[in-house]
Amino acid sequence: MPPTPSPETLTPPTPELIGSGPAMQDVYRLTRQVARSNASVLLLGETGTGKELIANAIHRLSPRGSGPFVRVNCGALAESLLESELFGHVRGSFTGAIDNRIGRFEAAHTGTVFLDEVNSTTPKLQVKLLRVLQEHEFERVGDTQTIRVDTRVIAASNRDLPEEIEAGRFREDLYYRLNVVTIYLPPLRERREDIPELVAHFIRIYNRENHCDVPRIEPAAMQAMVDYDWPGNVRELQNYIERAIVLAPGSELTRDLLPDEILEKRRRRIGRGVDLETLAATLVEQGIEAAGPQADNLHAQIVNRVERELVTQVMTECEGVQVKAAAKLGINRNTLHKKLQQYGLEK
Ligand SMILES: Nc1ncnc2c1ncn2[C@@H]1O[C@H](COP(=O)(O)OP(=O)(O)OP(=O)(O)O)[C@@H](O)[C@H]1O
Ligand SMILES: [Mg+2]
Repeated sequence: MPPTPSPETLTPPTPELIGSGPAMQDVYRLTRQVARSNASVLLLGETGTGKELIANAIHRLSPRGSGPFVRVNCGALAESLLESELFGHVRGSFTGAIDNRIGRFEAAHTGTVFLDEVNSTTPKLQVKLLRVLQEHEFERVGDTQTIRVDTRVIAASNRDLPEEIEAGRFREDLYYRLNVVTIYLPPLRERREDIPELVAHFIRIYNRENHCDVPRIEPAAMQAMVDYDWPGNVRELQNYIERAIVLAPGSELTRDLLPDEILEKRRRRIGRGVDLETLAATLVEQGIEAAGPQADNLHAQIVNRVERELVTQVMTECEGVQVKAAAKLGINRNTLHKKLQQYGLEK
């Protein structure tokens, strides 16, 4: 039989993207594929996972790459200001509108507009966005003249949009227009294999930027970073490396230069001062005792019981909202879904 060809490892589509482990392979493949098209793209993922980097990569690799890339943070402005930011306004259309002004959609003509935190838009704006996506046209605030633009839309959200739709905060028709293709950016804790490369990358960058010379990293420091859960993802990693480089007294980035959150991972306290290790030891001890001397599948018995209980309690605490529970557990939604099925906890 001929040997099965090993699947090809895709390199990052642009040089500033670091890490090519299995978790990023889909991201890179989709990024290259959608770049060729004009399709709207929806980027989902926790804070700091690289949504903006991917949006920018799609733009640069696309036939519009030489046109403008315009980012609008929809979460940063109130409705009326955001409307005028996106679509422009004519003089006198509201207090403070002292001049005509073109909006970001016009500014991005022949290029790409990146709607960051699109989940923060109001229903009224969502209607207007839907029309731009469908008809490529809109009016400036306070004007009747219709403007047509050739602008590609990439949007990002760090909320689960189907849940926002269910809660009545996001229009379903707009969602389907935005998510012609969805790219999900995995959290850093689900691609730990990329951490050493990211660390090395940021060490190089911050040495150069700060005129420092810290070329080496202590193995224990690297291990602590690989073990940590990174709730702030790559952005958090980046900040900690910069801090450590700036504070390093010698030529090595040592463990003690890392903040307590990282080092105390194994001693994180819960409840009334019980640490997780002690708690786990107690539970296991009682589990072994309860299973009796004849038990021959202790691993499955105890691990499954603990996992089922953990999933049940976190789901209850999160009022059944799977995306929240998955985030709290630090596992992805598909994994959570499988566990809910496995334990018969779907309802
Ligand atoms: N794969 C990566 N390689 C190198 N740097 C990365 C990578 N992913 C993210 N970063 C860096 O981490 C920081 C956060 O990335 P980015 O702004 O793209 O995240 P985001 O998903 O848009 O976050 P937020 O939801 O908070 O806006 C940036 O400084 C970016 O350069
Ligand atoms: Mg961002």
